Amino acid sequence: MRLGVLASGSGTNLQAIIDACKRGELNADVCVVISNNSGSRALERAQSEGIPAYHISAVTHPHTLDDEICRTLEAYDVDLVLLAGYMRLLGTETLGRYDGRVLNSHPALLPKFGGKGMYGSNVHRAVLASGETVTGVTIHYVDEQYDHGDTLAQCEVPVLPGDTLETLEERVKERERVFWAETLHMLATQSRLTTRDDTGGAHCSR
Ligand code: GRF
Repeated sequence: MRLGVLASGSGTNLQAIIDACKRGELNADVCVVISNNSGSRALERAQSEGIPAYHISAVTHPHTLDDEICRTLEAYDVDLVLLAGYMRLLGTETLGRYDGRVLNSHPALLPKFGGKGMYGSNVHRAVLASGETVTGVTIHYVDEQYDHGDTLAQCEVPVLPGDTLETLEERVKERERVFWAETLHMLATQSRLTTRDDTGGAHCSR
């Protein structure tokens, strides 16, 4: 699989996907990385791995953003587009061109705790406020709405007594980094995925 990854922030999920490819756990290559944020660590991570990296945003391409993203993905012959911490909606051209081949990860069990404004710490703050004892990660197909397309895979992560925003966010992100590779591997092999992680209760299912 030739992967194109879009990321806005620190890029730890991107790094985990690159590392899984390098270790041979995933039969795929990250061929291009795009960020809307010129200061994103994701761009630096890509560059230091020798992966082409592009800053493409509404500032760099105010009238042709969607077209430029689509064109860049096509230039690298990408099979699958991953939104790994990408903070923007994709345009109709890119979504049409890669219909059914764009995935996003969300750090909660959608449809709960998703939608506009539900990103980063906001998600985990809402989970803690709700009193839920289980949260998780959702990898889903992307459509024109935030956190809305069909779910491909979900993975549960416990909310533990005494959790703070920081401890919960870190536990979910740690699981999310591994879950990307597991889910992509499942997709590549079309096998079902059922695993149990070392937190004692979490499981993944397709
Ligand atoms: C991830 O938790 C992702 O689900 C959310 O933003 C975070 C990105 O983290 N949308 P990173 O940039 O991969 O470190």
